[in-house]
Amino acid sequence: MDYIYDDLPKQYSKAVKSSSKVLNSGRNSLFPARIRFLYPFIRHYTNLLFNFAAVNFIMHTILITGGAGFIGSNLVRLFVARYPHYTLVNLDKLTYAGNLENLKDIENAPNYHFVKGDITDMELLRNLFARYQFTGILHCAAESHVDRSITDPLAFVTTNVLGTATLLQVAKENWQGKFEDKIFYHISTDEVYGSLGETGLFTEKTGYDPRSPYSASKASSDHLVRAFYHTYQLPVKLSNCSNNYGPYHFPEKLIPLCIHNIFHNKPLPVYGEGLNVRDWLYVEDHVRAIDLIFHKGRIGETYNIGGHNEWTNIALVKELCRQMDEKLGRAAGTSAQLICFVKDRAGHDLRYAIDATKLKTELGWEPSLQFEEGLSRTIDWYLNNKEWLAHVTSGDYQQYYNQQYHKR
Ligand code: NAD
Ligand code: TYD
Repeated sequence: MDYIYDDLPKQYSKAVKSSSKVLNSGRNSLFPARIRFLYPFIRHYTNLLFNFAAVNFIMHTILITGGAGFIGSNLVRLFVARYPHYTLVNLDKLTYAGNLENLKDIENAPNYHFVKGDITDMELLRNLFARYQFTGILHCAAESHVDRSITDPLAFVTTNVLGTATLLQVAKENWQGKFEDKIFYHISTDEVYGSLGETGLFTEKTGYDPRSPYSASKASSDHLVRAFYHTYQLPVKLSNCSNNYGPYHFPEKLIPLCIHNIFHNKPLPVYGEGLNVRDWLYVEDHVRAIDLIFHKGRIGETYNIGGHNEWTNIALVKELCRQMDEKLGRAAGTSAQLICFVKDRAGHDLRYAIDATKLKTELGWEPSLQFEEGLSRTIDWYLNNKEWLAHVTSGDYQQYYNQQYHKR
């Protein structure tokens, strides 16, 4: 985590510089010739001391929205552990996708607070700002599942568009042009760029061409965030990430749904011919990128985040079957017999793939895991957390599952 030392508020980095100056100017008088060889060590350790003090005096108070969801809970966990001197407030409506069990291990951490509420509730946001005086916002809350957006598009417009606009407005009201050391970080998706053909990659300059109610609502929210930057200079940062996978992923999405179904010997529903391509990234790599961009990314900029890891759905499901056969002690090929091709998703985007060169060259980020290893860790996590899976798949999940897949 040494990179956070580069992100010191001005007054402290000035202090670090002036400490070096004092030592430099007084070199001859402060240090007699016989101990002058110690000078580089003294300077090094003085700087370290100032840096340590500076980092510990950055008292960010961050509002994390949607912190009980999949990416949000992984992000909260990282920030709670890495920044004990920050105050982290998780605001989540606890929709079907939000689950406080995702945060059980850190729920009593002294730097963490949970508030149940809706990002469209302006009064609540105003009260929270008045109480906590946020200096940063990590905005994860969203309706996030494409299939649900096809059946209920207005829920997506309400949370993703109106919710983001409400949050922007309250941040603007509260920060009142005093934007130094403030950050509004909007977490978005590569789906805003539309669908690729067989070749090409999405860059930060690719034009927006959203094609599902989900991606259109996320694209609208991205536009609003940029509009608040250009119009009011609100200090925003954005990132657009490819498909995530990993622990705490709700089993309506392809990977956890298949893990759950393989375990229970249920059919594996592959849409169409299974030839759609997604670029998969392990969630911990995503939240590591968010951390880096939050602390070191440039204001007003967008960063693409991706896994350099394209898989057709059918190849991915077969790899899951292969690994699970091994882990469950089943004969090779057993789970693949569960695969069944079902009616395609309406308007199904063919291919997503991210060019993350900007993030690599500016901030040095790269994915850390090979996909096979990431999948293996993910499967292990689900097998070791059967109770979690049983809880989230009870109740409403069954009804959703029957509606989505019964007649497909
Ligand atoms: P998720 O559906 O798992 O979690 C969303 C969270 O937001 C839930 O905890 C839910 O309760 C909360 N929420 C929903 N509506 C709310 C509201 N009105 N007020 C307050 N909280 C509300 O989603 P996720 O997969 O963790 O995605 C998080 C963010 O990352 C989203 O903005 C999504 O667009 C983006 N994203 C996701 C992926 C992915 O592969 N999952 C990839 C790129 C970007
Ligand atoms: P999903 O996990 O829903 O993410 P997104 O739609 O945001 O990319 O779906 C990933 C891919 O898997 C997508 O091409 C749709 C496909 N898919 C299936 O084939 N079967 C399923 O049951 C689901 C949920 C998705």
